[in-house]
Amino acid sequence: MSFYITTAIDYVNSRPHLGTAYEKITADVIARYRRLTGEATHFLMGNDEHSQNVYKRAIERGMDPLAYCDQMEQEFRAVWSQLDISFDDFIRTTEPRHRTAVQALAQTCFDKVDIYEGQYEGWYCVSCEAFKQEKDLVDGKCPLHPTVTPEWIRERNYFFRLSKYRDRLLRHFAEHPEFLQPAVRRNEMLRLLEGGLEDISVSRAGQLWGIPLPFAQDNVVYVWFDALINYAAAVGYGTDQARFSQWWPANLHIVGKDITRFHTVVWPAMLMSAGLPLPRQVFGHGWVNFGGQRMSKSLGTSLDPSDVAARFGADPLRLYLVKEISYGGDGDFTWDRYEERYNVDLANNLGNLVSRVSAMAETYRGSRLVAASGGGRLTQVAEAAVARYRTAMEACALHEGAAAAFQIVDAANEFIAETTPWALAKSPADAPRLDAVLFDVAEALRLTAVLLRPIMPRSAAEILARVGDRTPPDNLRLDRDGRWRAEGEREITKGAALWPRAEEDKVPREHKMDETPAAPPETPRISIDDFMKVELRVAKVIEAEAVPKSKKLLKLTVETGTERRTIVAGIAEAYQPEQLVGRTVVIVANLQPAKLMGVESNGMVLAASLDGGRPMLVGFDQDVPPGARVR
Ligand code: MSP
Repeated sequence: MSFYITTAIDYVNSRPHLGTAYEKITADVIARYRRLTGEATHFLMGNDEHSQNVYKRAIERGMDPLAYCDQMEQEFRAVWSQLDISFDDFIRTTEPRHRTAVQALAQTCFDKVDIYEGQYEGWYCVSCEAFKQEKDLVDGKCPLHPTVTPEWIRERNYFFRLSKYRDRLLRHFAEHPEFLQPAVRRNEMLRLLEGGLEDISVSRAGQLWGIPLPFAQDNVVYVWFDALINYAAAVGYGTDQARFSQWWPANLHIVGKDITRFHTVVWPAMLMSAGLPLPRQVFGHGWVNFGGQRMSKSLGTSLDPSDVAARFGADPLRLYLVKEISYGGDGDFTWDRYEERYNVDLANNLGNLVSRVSAMAETYRGSRLVAASGGGRLTQVAEAAVARYRTAMEACALHEGAAAAFQIVDAANEFIAETTPWALAKSPADAPRLDAVLFDVAEALRLTAVLLRPIMPRSAAEILARVGDRTPPDNLRLDRDGRWRAEGEREITKGAALWPRAEEDKVPREHKMDETPAAPPETPRISIDDFMKVELRVAKVIEAEAVPKSKKLLKLTVETGTERRTIVAGIAEAYQPEQLVGRTVVIVANLQPAKLMGVESNGMVLAASLDGGRPMLVGFDQDVPPGARVR
């Protein structure tokens, strides 16, 4: 089985924004999912360069248009690489292979008398690169580009006989309900087809930037007729017939909802005219807005995906876009919402599970887990989630696929809370039960990582390494690795927190000019001698347990370099005992002893107070031995 998937090719008059990046990320998730199922997958992306706006932008910069496009290609590739987009091929419409394909296809349509000469007179929106009818305009402007005035053009053009293909298109839609998804787009296109089709202009006269029509060299091919052919050109149309037969027809074109007409009416008609099979499916995804507004450079509401990826990394961004937006519908990005989901899904939920599993495995079993699956509820929940994941991913319901993976995470966290491994660890009679609990949560984590591999490729690979799975991540196969495995010893590795909780003040925010920062309140200063009276030292947590009947307190045994002592810390609402064992903390070592809930505390652990009193322990970015003085 093979799978050929493409995205729209981007205009290069500006850098990618979060909306264009959304399309590439979701297509990448599908391509990676197909590879995970073992299909030979070919994932194509590229740049659409013969646009008038691209030409204008190059001239504005005093650059040769091709040199400008070369430079933009590097910028696009850098962003796609930062977002871990795993395309197999990247086509540019200025490449010779594309030019050959465009001229071959145009010639074929011309020979079939599907292209004829005529006179065009009407509106043209340069930002859409589309001819517009009066009825398409609102107050004389294109609704998608209200800041741009449409041009009235009158020129001799070549036309494509689109009208001829209306009935065949309608039949194709009827016979292949899967051809255009989701259903809302399909209905839109059906209405359009039922209303009748007019022939379309496929050339522009008197322009230099573009591919000349082979049968009328002083006309260039209209940018959309040119661009659509990229999907065939990239796999050898007109240059390598054997390769073309191997990959064509494409299985899936991923495009935005604004350009489904080009992909499901114009492109299929071109293919019909050329006697070529139609792509099996076109998926028209929705818009990603920024703070409720359409993302647009000209409106100043665009967001650079590199800036978003710089905040927490590419994987959290990929997860947000896939999990929070129902694929096919519109979605929104705000920094607040992004931070909130990051904290909930990653810092607290999945990240916490990864830390708990490795901390418990280390503390209770020296990081080696024997094969001892309990085969209970967690197994059933995980297996059902894998089945849901498969169904969802096959149907391009990417958000449901992501949700299914997180159902395993939730179930594993609940399972830990119910089985209380820290209590089991106290009694030798419970050792077999503890073995089974630890094994099961590690296995649940392994399965989660397999399912998340298409969505969060790097994090999934890291989690798999931590739970002792040595399969090279690119060799994972859903059939084999996406099953609950009750066998095999596991060597667990501990590592730094994958997703430290986000602190609110680091979120980039718009700077408001009228906001003068409040002056810090006056506080009495202390001398250095006063400060030096406080003995701050590094300590390592050896044991941790809840203080009975207290919601807030944990009893810690810490190693201070010279001794072990007990400290009671008010951090139980933010940390589980097993998360703390082995952790480096900072303590006030010379505090007078005090009794808290009947337990004597010899010192105090330092923590920042967040979100209305929620503590976060002070830590170091490198290993520091117990006993070191902090000043
Ligand atoms: N060059 C044409 C496509 C030719 S395909 C043969 C084009 N380019 S584009 O750069 O304007 O858009 C590229 C893709 O990004 C399109 O699928 C478009 O729908 C999508 N998006 C543009 N803005 C978007 C959002 N705000 N949100 C989601 N997708 C968006 O159109």
